Amino acid sequence: MKIGFKSDIHLDFWIKDLSEIDEFIKDVLNPQVSDVLILAGDIGHYNEQNVVLIEKLSKYSKIFLTYGNHDLYLLPDEKLKYSNSFKRLDDFKSMVSKIEGVYFFDGDLIEIDGVNFLGSAGWYDFSLGLKHGYSLNYMRENWEIIMNDSRMIFPKIDPVNFSFSHKEKLRANIQKADIVFTHVAPVYISCHNDLILDSFYSFYGYDLLEENVKYWIFGHCHKPMDFYEDIVRFISSPLGYPHIRTGKKGINYLNLKGL
Ligand SMILES: [Fe+2]
Repeated sequence: MKIGFKSDIHLDFWIKDLSEIDEFIKDVLNPQVSDVLILAGDIGHYNEQNVVLIEKLSKYSKIFLTYGNHDLYLLPDEKLKYSNSFKRLDDFKSMVSKIEGVYFFDGDLIEIDGVNFLGSAGWYDFSLGLKHGYSLNYMRENWEIIMNDSRMIFPKIDPVNFSFSHKEKLRANIQKADIVFTHVAPVYISCHNDLILDSFYSFYGYDLLEENVKYWIFGHCHKPMDFYEDIVRFISSPLGYPHIRTGKKGINYLNLKGL
């Protein structure tokens, strides 16, 4: 089975309008025919653009996707259409779900040729900072200052509660999953070499690393990563922003011969 994976495409940073999308797909993503393409969130700020991208990518493979923090943002244009970030998300979900071979994951488990895929956005929970002795209030104050998530998602979320609800959705199906994908990493990663900032890039998911889980694909951090935690291989393939790109162009592929 050939599985592609990519995150953090941030489409609206790459194209000025939809007239440029075919060139973007060819030159930047360069998709190959595969069984599944996993898109691990942060597709872009505009539903209309995102849906066209997914529709075009669905010609190459089944698309398994979840959302990231930016897929909840309401920039001025989207704010004219949606008063609430979750209405934007619902609209996106209903549009992509109508495309043949496209599956939106929000804690869902889908089996393809004997391989079980589990996907959810996942959300950071500040636990890295808390583990190092910072108070919840201190973490929250920093989040308000540092993260646009505190200003661009309406109504304002509480990251700790939001993270908990995502984690419970994963927990419900984790014992059946072979491959998991989330936007946010479930183990601590060093994305910015800064303890506070890095606390906004992971959640405590060590208790989800069941022995049946072989791969965990994630995003959010724009640095590509590939490492093991226990027997789980953690991999990311972020595209990132064109002006400060640390990710790689192109989609990464795994060729699995039985799990
Ligand atoms: Fe993100």
